[in-house]
Amino acid sequence: MSDQAHHYAVAREIDLSRVREICDQYRNISPEEALMPVFQGIQEEYGFVNEAACYEVAHQLNLSPTQVYSSLTFYWIYKWRPGGKHRLFLCEGSGCYTTGTTRLRRVVEERLGIGAGETTFDGKITFQPFSTCMGACEWSPLVELDGEFYGFVDEARMNQLIDELNRQEYDAADQLAAPGSDAQYALVAPAPNSGDASTANVAQISERAPSLTEYEAEQTAQSGPQPNSGNADTR
Ligand code: FES
Repeated sequence: MSDQAHHYAVAREIDLSRVREICDQYRNISPEEALMPVFQGIQEEYGFVNEAACYEVAHQLNLSPTQVYSSLTFYWIYKWRPGGKHRLFLCEGSGCYTTGTTRLRRVVEERLGIGAGETTFDGKITFQPFSTCMGACEWSPLVELDGEFYGFVDEARMNQLIDELNRQEYDAADQLAAPGSDAQYALVAPAPNSGDASTANVAQISERAPSLTEYEAEQTAQSGPQPNSGNADTR
């Protein structure tokens, strides 16, 4: 897991002086244009954008707090609260809903023991379903895990993703043996019929549908360089 993801796990407050610095980077464009990159900058550093940051952004960009808040909450990608080290998002838009997302939510809730918008007690995983389309209906049901998109997810696939999280966090033998360690609180039960070796699950994951990033990289590799795909500065 990246350092950034770990940072998400510990960040609970946002340094407003840092928010001011981020706003300063976009003084040369209009406040409305600056909003998105400012939100992105804050979220990249802290993993979320809270109310205090919203007010500071409004003050710095000379916008109303309502304007800032409505822009922020319009986009599902921005998080309002600090979350767990891992972030598991489930699309429950109409496209995904009709292809089985309800069953996926049941798998997550049963295995993680948390509901929508909640974080496991050890701060490892935040689960967030979204009722608005995440923009890739052709891949439905769609899941985002730690910034990576996974398409055509069925119950077995969801179990595998959770198995993989479990392996990342708890499979070190010394941790498993240590009373009181994180591993004692292994956040999820083994998936039904998933076998005993997590490595088998990892292998299965790679054999199934690739993430969107992998898919796009594969398409690019197959089609070769695209016209006008060079540096934007050269246009
Ligand atoms: S409804 Fe899920 S990606 Fe569109």
